[in-house]
Amino acid sequence: VDEAVGVKIVYRVNAPITGRQLAQIFSASGLRRPVKDPRRISKMREHANLTITAWDGKELVGVARALTDFAFCCYVSDLGVHADYQRRGIGRRMLQLIRQKLGDEVMILLLSAPEAMAYYPRVGFVKVENAWKIARAR
Ligand SMILES: CC(C)(COP(=O)(O)OP(=O)(O)OC[C@H]1O[C@@H](n2cnc3c(N)ncnc32)[C@H](O)[C@@H]1OP(=O)(O)O)[C@@H](O)C(=O)NCCC(=O)NCCS
Repeated sequence: VDEAVGVKIVYRVNAPITGRQLAQIFSASGLRRPVKDPRRISKMREHANLTITAWDGKELVGVARALTDFAFCCYVSDLGVHADYQRRGIGRRMLQLIRQKLGDEVMILLLSAPEAMAYYPRVGFVKVENAWKIARAR
């Protein structure tokens, strides 16, 4: 619980959320995700196996959605904080919780949005030059 900003933010690990809630927090944070495709959003929700959510009461104000084997590797696909709640430590706290759940044997990888390139070094990430990807078509 983070009380530093006057509102209590509650963090939950793998709390049930609806596809609609997930799409809403993607939109509210400015993350570009397929929010108009409920089938795809619902698969994204279902198959992630480590999801941290941040709540202001009943309002979902942040999400960190990851896929991991809990032993060796973890891919953080989405980190988003509601625009009205950014820069209050919520993103940092969600990443901390991910690290706490994974322990120190697990590597965490992610792709940064262009706007967040200056963010990740502030929260403990190191830039790598040996990453390769096959981009999705849409
Ligand atoms: C990027 C994002 C996840 C950061 O979460 P947040 O809760 O707003 O940020 P935090 O409060 O954890 O920030 C931690 C530190 O990084 C700084 N910071 C936050 N966003 C930053 C950014 N985009 N660029 C550089 N620094 C940033 C904060 O000022 C803070 O600095 P401090 O250590 O001096 O206090 C959030 O702003 C967001 O959802 N942005 C829009 C979507 C996006 O770009 N997501 C990332 C996709 S890869």
